[in-house]
Amino acid sequence: MVKILPSLLAADFTALGEDIREMETAGADIFHLDIMDGRFVPNISYGLPVVEAIAEKASIPLDVHLMTQEPGQFIPEFSGMGVDMVSFHVEATPHPHRVMQLIQSYGMKAGIVLNPHTPPDSIRYLLPEVDYVLVMTVNPGFGGQEFISSCVDKIRELDGMRKKHGYDFEIEVDGGINDETAGICTEAGAGLLVSGSHLFSSPDWRKAVAALKG
Ligand code: DX5
Ligand code: ZN
Repeated sequence: MVKILPSLLAADFTALGEDIREMETAGADIFHLDIMDGRFVPNISYGLPVVEAIAEKASIPLDVHLMTQEPGQFIPEFSGMGVDMVSFHVEATPHPHRVMQLIQSYGMKAGIVLNPHTPPDSIRYLLPEVDYVLVMTVNPGFGGQEFISSCVDKIRELDGMRKKHGYDFEIEVDGGINDETAGICTEAGAGLLVSGSHLFSSPDWRKAVAALKG
């Protein structure tokens, strides 16, 4: 069963509590929280106090996507706030295995994120232990960008590696997901779909969530 993860980057920040409640009523499965530091990506989003406020309002699980250098920095804080999943970019640290284990040691699911240019083979030795792989289908940093089709092969490749070795990691996709690209990604093997601008700009969120589930 495909899960839908609204990216709160596209929510109304002046009415975050209402958007959270409405998206939950619309059938969203997990909230996706984009943390940007202005260093790893050329944008700054929001930080710990906002994550804490979201955690207090939300009743579905939270997935934190770290677009930061030194991704191991605030893992205890996220765990303390009740975050369920934390992903970080393999390009952001020389010690991805250590960061993965750190996240898992706090009882959270650990995800490794691949930028559009990063091949699945670069994380081959993390795949037996990782909980999910997030395939970026845009360059990270901004919502509302166009889906990069060449990333679909990467989803397929990861799905193939998963089947071949019997691994149980999930595949998440993020960037440019709409009714058309959602189906392409799930067919290729993705089970977790992040959607920001498409979902939040839809007139009927319940229908939009259902349509993405296919
Ligand atoms: C981009 C973020 C995404 C973003 C997706 O750096 O990681 O989560 O919010 O937004 P859309 O769905 O608009 O591409
Ligand atoms: Zn994201």
